[in-house]
Amino acid sequence: MNGLIIIQHPLIQHKLTHLRDRKTDHMVFRRLTKELTGFMLYEVMKDYPLKDITIETPLIKCQSHVLAREISIILILRAGLGMVDGLLDLVPSARVGHIGLYRNEETLEPIEYYMKLPNSIANTDVILVDPMLATGGSAAKAIELLKKSGAQSIKFVCMVAAPEGVQNLRKQHPDVSIYTAALDEKLNEQGYILPGLGDAGDRLFGTK
Ligand code: PRP
Ligand code: URA
Repeated sequence: MNGLIIIQHPLIQHKLTHLRDRKTDHMVFRRLTKELTGFMLYEVMKDYPLKDITIETPLIKCQSHVLAREISIILILRAGLGMVDGLLDLVPSARVGHIGLYRNEETLEPIEYYMKLPNSIANTDVILVDPMLATGGSAAKAIELLKKSGAQSIKFVCMVAAPEGVQNLRKQHPDVSIYTAALDEKLNEQGYILPGLGDAGDRLFGTK
């Protein structure tokens, strides 16, 4: 589907399998989430613009390249927290913003409870992260809030997506590309992704 990028690198698929496994405890789950997110960033930033600068090596002056624009990493609380360190390891200069959303268990509608974004967000490229794209309600809401705050260039990165969420997000925000490590089968009646990996927040933080 247009605007959906499924990253199928063998290392990513290997780590995702262990994330899905119910026997994986929260300590390993956290480490794998961080590692997998870092690998995904290579693909997400594949076509990232560069600008020329002149530097001096120990031998001569030369033209070289650095990232052309600043990056803002925006995470959806709580589970997005698990993805941030993997990204910051690779782009330590990124600014970080937080959007607090949780799903109402019955309606599955996202409820907003917190937002703190970089002041300069309009002049940066935004990478929005949340491990799970289920109904797509949380990601769509977060993107709406980001756009209202001036964000112009947004990419959404998750680990597991459901077809329902992809369709919903592409419909509401066709300008936002979705990067995922897997497109799963469907949602169950409680809005969980099948086969999925369960509740990402609970598995990351060991709260259940
Ligand atoms: C999870 C997940 C996403 C959301 C995805 O968060 O981290 O934010 O569900 O579902 P959706 O696509 O149907 O909106 P949850 O609401 O469980 O909150 P938590 O991270 O605080 O546990
Ligand atoms: N949120 C999760 O953490 N997991 C799902 O499968 C769906 C929503």
